[in-house]
Amino acid sequence: MSLMQLRGVTRTYDMGHVQVQALRGVSLAVEEGEFVAIVGPSGSGKTTMMSILGCLDRPSGGTYEIAGNEIGRLGDDDLARIRSRTIGFVFQSYNLLPGTSALENVATPLLYQGVSRHDRTVRATGALERLGLGGRLTHEPTELSGGEQQRVAIARALVTDPAVILADEPTGNLAVQQGLEVLQLLRDLHASGRTIVLITHNPEVAAVATRRIHLLDGRVVEEERAA
Ligand SMILES: Nc1ncnc2c1ncn2[C@@H]1O[C@H](COP(=O)(O)OP(=O)(O)OP(=O)(O)O)[C@@H](O)[C@H]1O
Ligand SMILES: [Mg+2]
Repeated sequence: MSLMQLRGVTRTYDMGHVQVQALRGVSLAVEEGEFVAIVGPSGSGKTTMMSILGCLDRPSGGTYEIAGNEIGRLGDDDLARIRSRTIGFVFQSYNLLPGTSALENVATPLLYQGVSRHDRTVRATGALERLGLGGRLTHEPTELSGGEQQRVAIARALVTDPAVILADEPTGNLAVQQGLEVLQLLRDLHASGRTIVLITHNPEVAAVATRRIHLLDGRVVEEERAA
């Protein structure tokens, strides 16, 4: 069984007078331990697909299964539970809580899983230390560089030990060197067995993945694997 499986997935945004077909029948299976990039130009449907893969949204048609759960059949609470257990998100804009320490930011997903305060602190500290941020635990987002903020976001994505990391343009706001460091981190995570789905419009960023899915106008138009 694949970790994630889309079958004929469509997503139509109903704008009242007009319907936008953001995905027009996408089928894709992602296996455990893969490092997949989803590539395509602006408007091709990447973020729409990421929202469905990440259980933030449901398909309009077709089916999506993640870790054996068919998403279309689940209510919002079940969807949120699967999301929180299965997926770690990394976004272009970091999405850290402002005015809140790195430690609290990383500990927050554990709160939703009912982990005790003591264990939250231990696990969040460990996650930040593994990303080289042991000296930044009490820093708030505005007191961190962009690259550091993205590493806090990656620590937050990892702290729940999710089956998959979903990263949408994770290097989009970073200087070249900091972007390269984030990509190296994703490679290290993949090497240690983590499943990663990376979404980007940038072919150079996509090159770090071992499999690339090209989207155009809501369809998969090409697929390549690293030699
Ligand atoms: N909430 C929405 N309501 C209506 N239309 C939407 C919505 N979100 C996206 N779309 C439309 O769906 C299509 C795909 O959008 P999507 O955001 O998935 O593209 P993308 O590949 O992520 O682009 P970018 O690289 O610019 O982020 C676009 O035509 C967009 O205008
Ligand atoms: Mg997008």
